[in-house]
Amino acid sequence: MNYKIAVIPGDGIGPEVTREAVKVLDAVAKKFGHTFEYNYLLAGGAAIDEKGKCLPEETVKAAKDSDAVLLGAVGGPKWDNLPGEERPEKALLGLRKALGLFANLRPAIMFDELKGACPLKEEKVEGGLDILVVRELTGGIYFGERGVKDTDDMGKAAYDVEMYSEKEVERVAEIAFSMAMKRNKKVTSVDKANVLESSRLWRKTTAKVAEKYPEVSLENFYVDNAAMQLVYNPKQFDVIVTSNIFGDILSDEASMITGSIGMLPSASLAEGEFGMYEPVHGSAPDIAGTGKANPMAAVLSAAMMLKYTFGLSEESDAIENAVKKVLGEGYRTPDIMTEGKTLITTSEAGTLIADRI
Ligand code: IPM
Ligand code: MN
Repeated sequence: MNYKIAVIPGDGIGPEVTREAVKVLDAVAKKFGHTFEYNYLLAGGAAIDEKGKCLPEETVKAAKDSDAVLLGAVGGPKWDNLPGEERPEKALLGLRKALGLFANLRPAIMFDELKGACPLKEEKVEGGLDILVVRELTGGIYFGERGVKDTDDMGKAAYDVEMYSEKEVERVAEIAFSMAMKRNKKVTSVDKANVLESSRLWRKTTAKVAEKYPEVSLENFYVDNAAMQLVYNPKQFDVIVTSNIFGDILSDEASMITGSIGMLPSASLAEGEFGMYEPVHGSAPDIAGTGKANPMAAVLSAAMMLKYTFGLSEESDAIENAVKKVLGEGYRTPDIMTEGKTLITTSEAGTLIADRI
């Protein structure tokens, strides 16, 4: 089969880790007889430098014309002083909205080989950790009405509106429940329904979706409690579904308790099969160009692309197994390095994984 992949390397370590993901995809293509056609596109700081804006129309158009998008990372100190609307990060938000990527899957999986890096006590994560955060990605406070205005006696005021419709909650809840069906059949919906009206609608709507999935248990947590429970008893979680902003925060927390944010991939899904795939880590400008970046999150994002958009489970598993093999053989990039292991560079990591496909 022939697949069209839009590749957006972006900024900082984005291009380096994306290069390794493509290297691994090429190994998959060769082994399984597929053709991956890559269309390289500009977004983020790289696009600001070349085209004068963070998300050129041709990038959106070409991304829409492809079967899936593979993204590195965007942003960096060079563009940090630009106004909000022009910052590289705005490209991410623009892509999410333009491509209709309403469901963001962020698996927080603890690799057995890396459990020493987990910051929690060993007994808290005994037997491993496998949490899937499903974050709503095109609504809520990220995309609500915002503005700045003058007040009579309090100086300037600024506001950002958190608003959710039933439809928006329903479709992301559907994804969470159908994912739970393939896992441990438990969904934890996270909100702030003791305070927020939008959360009360969220809670009511997820409960309605839950009726269609009698095998899945639904539990509701307030976000403050969820943040606490994640470090107190992370093993109680299977699928967490939550709003855009709560998901942003909780997915960082969940990823850190696996000890290896440099290892974690993500998928942003639209209606149908289309998706955008990117590592959870950012552009890490401090180590860009040094060969220190860990490409495994990008490589595993490519694996998610094969599974969710192309339906190629065997090929996806081949990538995951190759990554585990490389770890099992003791190879480590600096972020996950421990005593007695073999230190490798970004491109060595990619080659080692590709060789094991
Ligand atoms: C993320 C990032 C983005 C977000 C930023 C860069 C806009 O933190 O993907 O989690 O807040 O969604
Ligand atoms: Mn974030």
